[in-house]
Amino acid sequence: MTQPPIGIDDIHVHLPDLFISTTGEFARSRGVVPAKLTRGIGIERMAVPDAHEDAATLAAMAILGLMKRSRVHPEDVGKIYIGTESAVDEAKAIGTYVIGMLEKAYGEGSFQECSTVELKSACIGATIALENAIHWLSCEDGLALVVGSDIARYKLRSPGEYTQGAGAVALLVKREPRLLAIDPVFGGFTRDEDDFYRPIGMHTAVVNGRHSNFCYVSAMVEAFAAFRRRAKDRGLFELANGECLTDQLSHLIFHIPYPRMAEYAASAVFREDWRGLDRFSNIQNEIGDEPREADYPDKDSFLQANWEYSKRLAKTALFRKSFEEKVAETTLISRQTGNIYTGSLYLGLSSLREAGRLAPGRRIGMGSYGSGCSALFFSGTVQPGVLDLPIQGLIEGLENRREIDLLEYEALHEGSRTSLNTPKGEFALLGIDETGYRRYGYVP
Ligand code: CAA
Repeated sequence: MTQPPIGIDDIHVHLPDLFISTTGEFARSRGVVPAKLTRGIGIERMAVPDAHEDAATLAAMAILGLMKRSRVHPEDVGKIYIGTESAVDEAKAIGTYVIGMLEKAYGEGSFQECSTVELKSACIGATIALENAIHWLSCEDGLALVVGSDIARYKLRSPGEYTQGAGAVALLVKREPRLLAIDPVFGGFTRDEDDFYRPIGMHTAVVNGRHSNFCYVSAMVEAFAAFRRRAKDRGLFELANGECLTDQLSHLIFHIPYPRMAEYAASAVFREDWRGLDRFSNIQNEIGDEPREADYPDKDSFLQANWEYSKRLAKTALFRKSFEEKVAETTLISRQTGNIYTGSLYLGLSSLREAGRLAPGRRIGMGSYGSGCSALFFSGTVQPGVLDLPIQGLIEGLENRREIDLLEYEALHEGSRTSLNTPKGEFALLGIDETGYRRYGYVP
C-alpha cells in the first residue's frame, strides 16, 4: 500500500503588536550607520513582545488563529509539538500552558486526549517537531499542530541586539495536505559547538557572532550534502547531464536569524551543488579557485578564507540571478520582524505564500539550523490546494503594528511588567504566583 503524502496543510503566524525600527533613534543610540542594519544585516524593524506576552501566549495565539482559519476541532488534534528555546518553565511543558489557554476558548477538557511535548534544540526545534509529527502521521491518521515560538533576546548594546525579534508560527500537519507535501528524506548534521547558548537562569543568549555564522554555513552545507546523497539513493530526483539538485527546486528557504544570513547560506549551498559543473568552472575563472585547508596555518584562517570566497561567489552574476529567483523573497517578512528563532524558517515559507510565490507541483528545499549545533535539509512539493488557501494578509498586517521608542523598548527588554498595550482579544500572561506558576487568561 502506498503511503499518502504527509505535510503542511495550513500555516498561521502570530507576531507581537509592538516593534522598534532599527533605523533612527535605535541606530543613533548604538552608534551604527542605519544602512548597516537595513542592508548589511537586512533588518528594518524588530518585533518586541509586550509585558503580557511570552513564548506560551505567542504559541497559543498562533494555534488559535490556525484553528479558526482551518476550522479545526480540538478533539481532532492528536499532538501539539512545540519547538522553543524561550522556555517558560524548566520542567512543565510549554504546551500544557498553551492547552490551558486554548481550553479557555474551546472549553475545559477539550484537548485532554491530545499529547504535547516541548522540543528544545535552539532554532531547529520546530523542524524536529515537524519531523516527529510526520512520523506519527505515518502510523496514525489525525491532526498534529507543530509550533515554533520564541523571543530572540541579546544583551542591550551587543552586536546581537539588532537581530532580535519575537513571534510564533503554527503549522497544521496532516495526511493529504493542501500546502506542502514533505518528501520522506531528511539530511542531517550535528556537532557540539559553543556558537550560541543560554545557560540556565540567563535571559539573554551568549553568542560568538562570527563563529556562529561559520557554524551555520558549515552545518547547512553538510546537511544539504547528506540530503542530496539520501535523495539520490531514494530516487527522489532525476538529474539530466549538467544539472544539479538545486536546479530542480523553485525556492530554497533557509533559517533566517537575519536576512543576510540567508544569502550567506545560499552562497555556500549553491557552491556545494555547482562544484564540478561547467558553471562552476566559469565562476572559478572569475573569482579564483576555492581555498584549500592545507594552504592555511590554522583552521580559523582557513574558515575565514572560505567565508570570504563564498562572499565573492555571492557577487557573481550567476549567484545574483539564482538568489533573486529562489531565495530573496523568503526574507520578506523577516526584514520586518527580526529573528523569531524556531519559527524563522516557516516565516520564510509564509513570506512566499503571502507573496503568492508557491506554485503547485514545484518542489522547494528547506534548510533548518539550530545553534549548538544541528542542521536539517529537506524538501517538499507544493500542493494544488495552495490555490484555495486564503492568505493571512501578513504583509499588510505588518503596517498596522505600534512603533515604540527606545526607552519603551529598553524597559520591556529589561523585564518591565507594565504592558504598553492593554491586552484585548488575546491570551495574556496575567501574573506569576509566589511558587513560579504562571496565570494566563483570555482577555476579550
Ligand atoms: N552599509 C551597508 N552594509 C554595511 C555597512 C554599511 N554602512 N556597514 C557594515 N555593513 C555590512 C558588513 O560589510 C557586513 O556585510 P558583508 O558580510 O557583506 O561584509 C554586514 O554589514 C554585517 O556586518 P558585521 O560583520 O560587522 O556584523 P556585526 O559584527 O555587527 O555582527 C552578527 C553581525 C554576527 C550577525 C551579530 O549581529 C550577531 O552576533 N547576531 C546574533 C547571532 C546570529 O544571528 N548568528 C547567525 C548564525 S547563528 C543562527 O542562525 C542561530 C540563531 O538564530 C541565533
